[in-house]
Amino acid sequence: MKKITKNPKVILVGAGPGDVDLITVKGLRAIENADVVLYDALVNKTLLKNVKASAQCIYVGKRFNSHKFSQEEINEMLVDYANEYGTVVRLKGGDPFVFGRGSEEALFIESQGVETEFIPGISSALAVPTNQGIPMTKRGISEGFWVMTGTTSTGDISEDIALGAQSSATLIILMGLRNFSLIMNEIKNHRHKYTPFAIIQNGTLPNENIIIETLNNYNNVIDNIDYSSPGIIVIGDVVAEHPAFLEEEIQRVLGMSF
Ligand SMILES: C[S@@+](CC[C@H](N)C(=O)[O-])C[C@H]1O[C@@H](n2cnc3c(N)ncnc32)[C@H](O)[C@@H]1O
Repeated sequence: MKKITKNPKVILVGAGPGDVDLITVKGLRAIENADVVLYDALVNKTLLKNVKASAQCIYVGKRFNSHKFSQEEINEMLVDYANEYGTVVRLKGGDPFVFGRGSEEALFIESQGVETEFIPGISSALAVPTNQGIPMTKRGISEGFWVMTGTTSTGDISEDIALGAQSSATLIILMGLRNFSLIMNEIKNHRHKYTPFAIIQNGTLPNENIIIETLNNYNNVIDNIDYSSPGIIVIGDVVAEHPAFLEEEIQRVLGMSF
């Protein structure tokens, strides 16, 4: 690879939720022009086919506490590669500033005197429910939505889960599957027991999967969760807009009458 010393720069790019076509045009152009791409686990690898021949792509992903590099190492790599090769694209799943540690990376890079740029991505928090036809807001049903983590840095569930559950907003929970029972128990304390919820895994990808149930029956779905795949939980009456919900309700009523 040819070494250059001018214009070191790191561009934090959102790769979108999974479907390769759900990156922005601006994000794709940044990948095409990059000298180095550092990418995460949930980035669709097909996007890397767009790099120029001289560019190198480096996997720095983290999944379930299995880290190839620590966050500090990644920060250092971003600065070192930018100083050595020029333009580094830091490619992150969804949007780089939604549970992506993008702002921490940017702070470090800027503290080292390297320029940063940000290219937003379509967050899974929005794209995954929409791809299933579940609206996050709907006139007369939901006036807003909360996007929360289901697992904080200590491994516990966020206190925001209880606060969100006390609102009437749609709840969208990322990184919540491993704390699924804790989360649902907390929400059951505040929402009516027939509130529908959905678990959507591998959203926008060919192996996308959705499970729909009501809060009182959350135990029924535990065995169907695939803990190795990314998933979001959507809770609120808007989930009833999904055709599978009506279908399940009809089956339930039919089951009760025979
Ligand atoms: C570390 S967070 C990063 C979120 C990302 N920055 C975003 O905006 O989508 C990773 C979590 O996002 C959710 N997620 C990301 N991609 C997903 C997908 N295709 N389907 C379902 N959930 C997804 C999962 O909850 C996963 O554990």
